[in-house]
Amino acid sequence: MPIPPAASFYEVVLAVHIMAVVVAFGVIFAYPIMFAVGVRHDPRGLPLVHRVEYTIERMLINPGLLLVLVAGIYLASEGHYWSDFFVQWGLGAVIVIGALVGAVMIPTAKRAEEIAARDVAAAAGNEGEIEMSAEYRALVRRLSSVGALLSLLVLVTILFMALNLGA
Ligand code: HEM
Repeated sequence: MPIPPAASFYEVVLAVHIMAVVVAFGVIFAYPIMFAVGVRHDPRGLPLVHRVEYTIERMLINPGLLLVLVAGIYLASEGHYWSDFFVQWGLGAVIVIGALVGAVMIPTAKRAEEIAARDVAAAAGNEGEIEMSAEYRALVRRLSSVGALLSLLVLVTILFMALNLGA
C-alpha cells in the first residue's frame, strides 16, 4: 500500500480555514427553518428563537469569522496570493459579514426578542392564535433579508475561493 505523503502545514491551515467556514456559516442556512417552525408551531417560543439566534452570532459566527480571517491571511501569505482577486474579495466578504452581523443582525435579533415577548404578553389570556405586531414582522423581514444576503455572500465567496479566481 503506498504511503501517503505527510500533509504540509499549509494544507492543515487550509483545512482549518474550511472547517471555520463550515462552523461559522453553516448555521445561517438553518435560520429560515428556525423562524418558520417558531411562527407556525409556537409563537410563544419566538423570544427564545431570537435569543438563540444572537447568542449563536456572538459565540459561534464572530469567533469563526476571526479564524477564517487569520487562517486566510496565513494562506494568502504562504501561497503568495495577495494580488489575486479571490483574496481581496475574501477580505471584503469578511468585513461585510462582520459589519452586517455586528451592526444589523445582533441588534435586530435583540429587538425582535423584546418585541416578540411584548406581543406574547399582550396576548396572554387570549384563547385564539397570537397575532404578532407589524413592528415584529418588520424586524423579522429585516433579519430574513439580511440573512439571505449573508448566505449568498458566503456561497459566492466559496465559489471564488474554489476557482482561485484571479489566479
Ligand atoms: C467568508 C469568507 C471566506 C470563505 C467562505 C472562504 C472559503 C474558502 C474555501 C472554501 C477555500 C478552499 C478552496 C479550495 O481549496 O479550492 C478557501 C481557500 C483559500 N482562502 Fe478563503 N474563504 C474566506 C475568506 C478568506 C480570506 C479573508 C482570505 C485571505 C485573507 C482567504 C484566503 C484563502 C486562500 C489563500 C485559500 C487557498 C487557496 C489555495 O491554496 O488554492 N479566504 N477559502
